[in-house]
Amino acid sequence: MPDDFPLQSQTPDALMLFGFWYRALPASQLRRGQLAKTKTTLLEQPLVIGRDRQGQAFALRDACPHRGMPLSCGQFDGQQIECSYHGWKFDAHSGQCQLIPSLVPEQTLKIDRIYAGSYPCEERDDFIWVFIPDPGPGGAGFSKPAPAPTPAPEIPKFSEHYKLAYLTADLPCSVDHGIIGLMDPAHGPFVHQAWWWRTQKSIHEKHKNFEPIPYGFRMSAHTPSSNSAPYKLLRLYADADSITTTIDFVLPNLRSEIIRAGKYWFSSLTTVTPITRNQCRIDVVAAWNLFRWIPFGPELLKFVFAKFVEQDRRTMEIQSEGLKHNPHLMLIGDADRPAKWYFGLKSAMLEMKKNGGEFRHPMAGPMTLRWRS
Ligand code: FES
Ligand SMILES: [Fe+2]
Repeated sequence: MPDDFPLQSQTPDALMLFGFWYRALPASQLRRGQLAKTKTTLLEQPLVIGRDRQGQAFALRDACPHRGMPLSCGQFDGQQIECSYHGWKFDAHSGQCQLIPSLVPEQTLKIDRIYAGSYPCEERDDFIWVFIPDPGPGGAGFSKPAPAPTPAPEIPKFSEHYKLAYLTADLPCSVDHGIIGLMDPAHGPFVHQAWWWRTQKSIHEKHKNFEPIPYGFRMSAHTPSSNSAPYKLLRLYADADSITTTIDFVLPNLRSEIIRAGKYWFSSLTTVTPITRNQCRIDVVAAWNLFRWIPFGPELLKFVFAKFVEQDRRTMEIQSEGLKHNPHLMLIGDADRPAKWYFGLKSAMLEMKKNGGEFRHPMAGPMTLRWRS
């Protein structure tokens, strides 16, 4: 692939990857026995998400299978949702129809064969995750939901006690721009400057080793860059040489970073979730056992991360102005190589879904990338 290969020809037309788990909303937004106050959209699908009276989360398509009324406008009794238009009732978990009030006793419509769309839904690390399956054949209604093929992703943790925190921000761009923005090393010195952090002058040459992993790639375990975020804090705990970090990207949108320093660890799982084709959301969830005895530790960490996420959000907001008129774009080596791998992984996944066969990983083997940042 030539180094200035145009970006357009690698972007699979802002397609979104179905058949994966996605983060829907923070678990704290769901009250027992209630529907979420805010509407959720994932991959352009409107969802109504709630928690039953036992505390179990569920996700349904926010459209009644009768005449499309949003079920989020209906009544929820902690177990069933009643549509506000003609009063059909649905089981909140399976979506199965339980009652059609307009039927007279002689009318033998098999209501248990009618389903509102429902989605596998799990709670992990303070977030509600929803599995968005591959779309069924066009025009078909919903039927009994299939379970998800895998459990929802989880943050790796390395001790029994830890703290957990999250940050979330809406990004006004396609999921592809959100993801490549996340893995782009070259914007750091320009976007993430601060007197207490780093300046443009701290830019220097870096070498990082990468290797292919299933449906993704790994920046191999290494001593973190001296200007990376948690690293500066970690140096308070351990000597610099004992600190290692591993960063993985795995389809469809998972970036995990694990930093270990002796018995201390910091682990984060960042996702960029497609809302519509021009809108996505970044959620950073981190777990750590570092600052348990320091009162300001978690606040400090959250402050640093909030600054970073806000700088990225603001940058992408401005970038979206430039992208409105579909300019010509390019990806250059080596700094944009991870972005190229992302597009390669995504098209391999789309290809496999379409035609079956093996997943064709875009990386032939381990490789070292060099850039200045
Ligand atoms: S539209 Fe929901 S019951 Fe008729
Ligand atoms: Fe950034």
